[in-house]
Amino acid sequence: MAAVTRAIDADLVDRACALAEGRRALLGIVGQPGAGKSTLASALLAAATERGIATALVGMDGFHIAHRALTELGLVEVKGAPETFDAAGYVALLRRLRAAEPLVWAPEFRREIEDAIQSAVPVARDVRLVITEGNYLLLDGAWRPVRELLDETWYVDVPEELRRERLAARHEFYGRTPEQAWERTLGSDERNARTVAATRPLADVLVPVG
Ligand SMILES: Nc1ncnc2c1ncn2[C@@H]1O[C@H](COP(=O)(O)OP(=O)(O)OP(=O)(O)O)[C@@H](O)[C@H]1O
Ligand SMILES: [Mg+2]
Repeated sequence: MAAVTRAIDADLVDRACALAEGRRALLGIVGQPGAGKSTLASALLAAATERGIATALVGMDGFHIAHRALTELGLVEVKGAPETFDAAGYVALLRRLRAAEPLVWAPEFRREIEDAIQSAVPVARDVRLVITEGNYLLLDGAWRPVRELLDETWYVDVPEELRRERLAARHEFYGRTPEQAWERTLGSDERNARTVAATRPLADVLVPVG
């Protein structure tokens, strides 16, 4: 799908840049499937970079367990659920980013192949603002250390119907029939959406998206 750079509220850019004032900051963007996390994160990356803040974007999606492994585990049908991610690997990466190691290579999820690739995103020591985004930043269990590793967490708040429509449209764009797209959106995605919605009160900031 064409990468669209959307306008981002200047107040949000101010807030993110202030977090990174004179230090490395980790900012989390969380929200339900299809809420617009990746879109907001890309817009923020562009805006902060334009303001001269060295910024990097590291997705939680890079820690999707490989499709082949999920097949062996019988988890393909619920791909995207919390148990289909390597949460501990994600936590370890955030710890390395927090420690500002000289160079950290992060993985990246590629929707075209429905799999992550390793060592795709470099984060050098001089990066001040690290943006990370994903569904489960505020979950308990294996995800619990994440929130303490982040300076702030923003929740992308979008009306449910709009979110589902955009999610189904994206599924279609990546090759599903309309029926399959809606089955996915109202099936496993919807279960995950409820899991994420339960964490909304834990966010530091709600970002309304229309
Ligand atoms: N403000 C917006 N206006 C119109 N379309 C939008 C907006 N934000 C996102 N979209 C579209 O909605 C769809 C979902 O957005 P996006 O991929 O950013 O969501 P996400 O939260 O990252 O989803 P996922 O959890 O599946 O990774 C995309 O097709 C995107 O282009
Ligand atoms: Mg996304």
